[in-house]
Amino acid sequence: MSQRDHMSDQIEKAAALLRAGKLVAFPTETVYGLGADATDDHAVAAIFEAKGRPSFNPLIIHLPDRETAESLVDFDPLSRSLADALWPGPFTLVLPRKADSPVSLLASAGLETLAVRVPAHDLAHQLLAKTGKPIAAPSANPSGKISPTTAAHVRDGLGDKLAMILDGGPAVHGLESTVVAVRNGDIHLLRPGSITRDMLEKFGPVISDQPDPEAPSSPGQLLSHYAPDKPIRLNADQFNDDEAALTFGAPGPFALSDAGDLTEAAANLFRQLRAADASPLPRIAVSPIPHQGLGEAINDRLKRAAADK
Ligand code: TXA
Ligand code: MG
Repeated sequence: MSQRDHMSDQIEKAAALLRAGKLVAFPTETVYGLGADATDDHAVAAIFEAKGRPSFNPLIIHLPDRETAESLVDFDPLSRSLADALWPGPFTLVLPRKADSPVSLLASAGLETLAVRVPAHDLAHQLLAKTGKPIAAPSANPSGKISPTTAAHVRDGLGDKLAMILDGGPAVHGLESTVVAVRNGDIHLLRPGSITRDMLEKFGPVISDQPDPEAPSSPGQLLSHYAPDKPIRLNADQFNDDEAALTFGAPGPFALSDAGDLTEAAANLFRQLRAADASPLPRIAVSPIPHQGLGEAINDRLKRAAADK
């Protein structure tokens, strides 16, 4: 089999696995990504599980072109100019989610915005086009470890947790994409990267705004976390009639997981928090969630949501 046939075989296989809700690591021009179908709550929960992150952070959604991105988020004219000039490339835009966006709420950690990027790597582009789904992908390293620039790094860190690693050789940049959000005509630089401030300043004023994802929300901060408006009671063993019950291990209209499964609870977390917040019941109460595996990230979010009151 020729090298080219071999690669197109691999891409075909990777695309099929992604469509089936599996985790696939793939090369981009910055670092290797840990990819999953961004429209599949369970697949996105599996990303957080594999990375072993103690909290949920919003992920970058990878797309083959700007036209596809336009179906998920609303572009303002300045963001569109930036996209046209810098895509495909190591550049990520944070934009408002469309109300009917099919992307999992877990992928954007419950936020109203979505980070979107069109990578320049040829294999990544082919994979995204073949899969036909938006692909959520953080860097393919375990939490707290450095970002992987080769397939071997990915295998060392996450090998047993992945359905497949698409090997595209070493990543070129080795530095994650620049992340920006346009607000009131200003370009807020949320994460510096290989698209530099100088390059961005040709398009408009650039403001450094690197929010600490762990910090509590504050006005002017773009990465505030999602919290419902209603009061939340945690570790509830029983529920009152005026409480929307986010159950774990018991059924109910706002169940996180009937069966007491942590991956399912993570997949349902933001959707059920929103549903509970929108319900006629004035309060929210949540079952105890075991503090292991994904439970740590779920408890982190719940604690913040409750502390915000
Ligand atoms: O180069 C890259 O960007 C790599 C490759 C795989 O594409 N991906 C990557 O993803 O670095 P990750 O998950 O490690 O970093 C995502 C960054 C974080 O800094 C996160 O806070 C920011 O994007 N981000 C994602 N969604 C956001 C949102 N809705 N609002 C603000 N920041 C967001
Ligand atoms: Mg990372």
